[in-house]
Amino acid sequence: MSTFPWHRRHILSLAEFTPGEYESVLQTALSFQGVLSRRTKKVPTLQGQVVANLFFEPSTRTRSSFELAAKRLSADTLNFSPGSSSLTKGETILDTAKTYLAMGTDLMVVRHRGAGVPATIAQELDRLGAGVGVLNAGDGQHEHPSQALLDLLTICNSLNPEQPSIVDLRGKKVAVVGDILHSRVARSNLWSLTACGAEVHLAAPPTLLPKAFAEAFSLPLETSEGTVQRQVFIHWQVDSALKNADFVMALRLQKERMSDHLLPSLREYHQRFGITRDRLRHCSPNVKVLHPGPTNRGVEITSDLMDDPQVSLVSQQVASGVAVRMALLYLMGGAQQPADKKTPPSQKTDSSQKTPSSQKTDSSLR
Ligand code: NCD
Repeated sequence: MSTFPWHRRHILSLAEFTPGEYESVLQTALSFQGVLSRRTKKVPTLQGQVVANLFFEPSTRTRSSFELAAKRLSADTLNFSPGSSSLTKGETILDTAKTYLAMGTDLMVVRHRGAGVPATIAQELDRLGAGVGVLNAGDGQHEHPSQALLDLLTICNSLNPEQPSIVDLRGKKVAVVGDILHSRVARSNLWSLTACGAEVHLAAPPTLLPKAFAEAFSLPLETSEGTVQRQVFIHWQVDSALKNADFVMALRLQKERMSDHLLPSLREYHQRFGITRDRLRHCSPNVKVLHPGPTNRGVEITSDLMDDPQVSLVSQQVASGVAVRMALLYLMGGAQQPADKKTPPSQKTDSSQKTPSSQKTDSSLR
């Protein structure tokens, strides 16, 4: 599988990502995993650039890992909290973004409860000719690209720790169980997993999994690399979805996004759809379990499974998040520069051995 020169200024959705782009993100993230395993976990790649984290909605993992990723790349970071910002005085979201632009921001990471807000900011910045990349860190029920990409890295690392590649995903069965209707994580994962050749089996009560979901996400992906047939199946009972599954992704019940009573009770949900050790009998013997967090322990998954390192990839997901977000910031940062300035991190010298002053003069690392 070949990788491609990066050309996306913004990452707003994975709907049109091609297998080559997934492989590029994966291989770049693997290089950064190497960086993160060193004693000095920092490279000067984005030195002098400003990354603004505009989180208009609460977040623990995503926000912290974007901040750490930017810092590991030596960028300056700006963190925005809506409660203590001028939003409370009536400033608009676009004016907030323009304020960060005027301060010299090079990349904006945006999370908002409204679907499409990162895209609107990106459109406005393009209209202004700002040359600033926008990364969607979760917009309403729409998408959460960096979560799906860190899930991809976690899955590929688990399938082939020596030489992970998206090729290893072909023909694998991934069951996604839980509140699919409200989940941006499920939507982004549907795009990425199917584009990489995995079969995705969705399982939820009918109120949380409309029939149209399978159709909407089954459209073939046309790329210059060829056509990819996406394979999506829906199940209103969990056991058939779990049959021979290689991976099970449990999703949180997103109560904050439920406007109606969509479930009789959490207890009944757990009885019918909760991921338990007993239910994993249906899966492949080496099945691994993922959860994007935050978790309602004992509802979508039992506590003992969450904490079982033989089965659970939850900690690996969190760790993968930093490397993947470094890769995305690196690729997007580079996409704004002339192509000859870009050098993959794996080909760069080990900057941990250098003094800060020698890092400044090494232009291939910027
Ligand atoms: C998810 C989100 O915010 O969409 N969490 C995350 O980013 N790790 C999933 C969720 O909130 O359930």
